[in-house]
Amino acid sequence: MQPQATMPKLSLPNIRTIIAVASGKGGVGKSTVSANLALALAASGNKVGLMDADIYGPSMPTMMGINGVIDQATTPLPLEKHGLKIMSMGFLVPPTQAVIWRGPMVHRALTQFLSDLDWGVLDYLVIDLPPGTGDAQLTLTQTVPLNGSVIVTTPQEVSMIDARKGIEMFKQVRVPILGIIENMSYFIGDDGKRYEIFRHGGGTKLAQEYNVPFLGEIPIDPKVAESGDEGLPIVLKHPENPVSKAFMALAKSVISELGTMVAPKELPKLEL
Ligand SMILES: Nc1ncnc2c1ncn2[C@@H]1O[C@H](COP(=O)(O)OP(=O)(O)O)[C@@H](O)[C@H]1O
Ligand SMILES: [Mg+2]
Repeated sequence: MQPQATMPKLSLPNIRTIIAVASGKGGVGKSTVSANLALALAASGNKVGLMDADIYGPSMPTMMGINGVIDQATTPLPLEKHGLKIMSMGFLVPPTQAVIWRGPMVHRALTQFLSDLDWGVLDYLVIDLPPGTGDAQLTLTQTVPLNGSVIVTTPQEVSMIDARKGIEMFKQVRVPILGIIENMSYFIGDDGKRYEIFRHGGGTKLAQEYNVPFLGEIPIDPKVAESGDEGLPIVLKHPENPVSKAFMALAKSVISELGTMVAPKELPKLEL
């Protein structure tokens, strides 16, 4: 059974703002953006949660340096790490074990992550979505009072094609699009020259096409991957790196776009 369009949204009065980070495609940097955006929001004094909604391929245990299955008898969930409250399916299932679930179970797990766990009072909850437009996206867009979404793309056309699908999904379910971020935008070599490895400008083009804000570009830097693999995201490990500065700027733009948004509850209800 699929969640219905008419089902009531979860009531999450202690969470002020919920932001979904999405794209159509895998591997474009959604989890990297989610982790660093959450940390950048927390760096300016906000209380921030980070929920990994990728049930089949959770990234947050590795990216946040939380290894091993959590014993809920001794450690309450969501976990606290790097100043964030974090929840991931990876805290419940060992990394080598595949989660083989049908849609309704994904739906149940995600709604339980949100409504059964004690997140405390949060200024922002960042939700890292899995790739595609499947069950997790359906559950989150229809049952969670999302304030907005951030779409991640890389400059190549293959990534933009899938990003368009993500944008269309949010438009259909009336979740405001805060803007588009172009990740892996360019690379600055040791010679100081800028190399546009995957071409450039896809994000801006997409933002113009849909008349949504362009939130900025994140360069390619091997330190992003290194620090992600080490469990200490780049904004913490190398705060002076241009990539970290780009993430801080992204957090600022997201906050400013949220300030201009009409609250989702004021939008007309959609019957699918
Ligand atoms: N700007 C970047 N520079 C270098 N590596 C990056 C960058 N963004 C992401 N990566 C790396 O690319 C891989 C995929 O990123 P990830 O955030 O897991 O993507 P997704 O969640 O979209 O599947 C990871 O190894 C990550 O460290
Ligand atoms: Mg991911």
